[in-house]
Amino acid sequence: MNIAIDGPAGAGKSTIAKLVAGKLGYIYVDTGAMYRAVALALLNAKIDVTDVDAVANEITGIEITICYEDHAQQVYLNGENVTGSLRKEEVGNMASKSSAIPCVREKLLDLQRKLARENDVVMDGRDIGTNILPNAEVKIYLTASSAVRAKRRYDELIAKGETPDIDKIEADIITRDKQDMERPIAPLKQADDAVYLDSSDLGIDEVVAKIISIAEK
Ligand code: C5P
Repeated sequence: MNIAIDGPAGAGKSTIAKLVAGKLGYIYVDTGAMYRAVALALLNAKIDVTDVDAVANEITGIEITICYEDHAQQVYLNGENVTGSLRKEEVGNMASKSSAIPCVREKLLDLQRKLARENDVVMDGRDIGTNILPNAEVKIYLTASSAVRAKRRYDELIAKGETPDIDKIEADIITRDKQDMERPIAPLKQADDAVYLDSSDLGIDEVVAKIISIAEK
């Protein structure tokens, strides 16, 4: 059984997918983390993301592997666990640009399909229902308004003791949505057979309960 959850940045996909996976005993596959690991490799090597040949050259030499520790996905880049470095804004912004390059997507496609073939998964990303797992039994398109998503991110950063600018956060979210939705290859969009869920006015538990009830049907 495969559950695909797609949607824009900050819609709560990873929190919700993790909870759904925990309740159903499935593994949670965070494909964004894989794109972030590639982005980290490109940042470390100081590759200009507009130079597609340099990106292609760099990624032939990198190895991304996934394993699970206490049900938590760990991402290894060339044998080093980089999971703790992937959530930085800089890495997310680079991932949004580098994920539009075909060779980057090809690099990760087999890894994602293999995980879904060998396990019951809840997999989240941008093109899971449309491209990676077109036959997933359950497909969800999870979204929320950009203002709500910015406020959630703002609250997270405040809780960490940072002093964020909410307008800048919302502007970044809108830029990333645009990049993800308008790229020619595997753009973010709702699959025809996906259930649309807007979490702007829903609590986490309500969204989780809705997805579980869809999966149980
Ligand atoms: O979901 P997350 O914010 O971690 O993803 C980082 C970036 O990776 C996204 O902005 C998107 O450009 C890219 N991505 C993608 N396809 C996926 C998952 C993420 O293009 N399946």
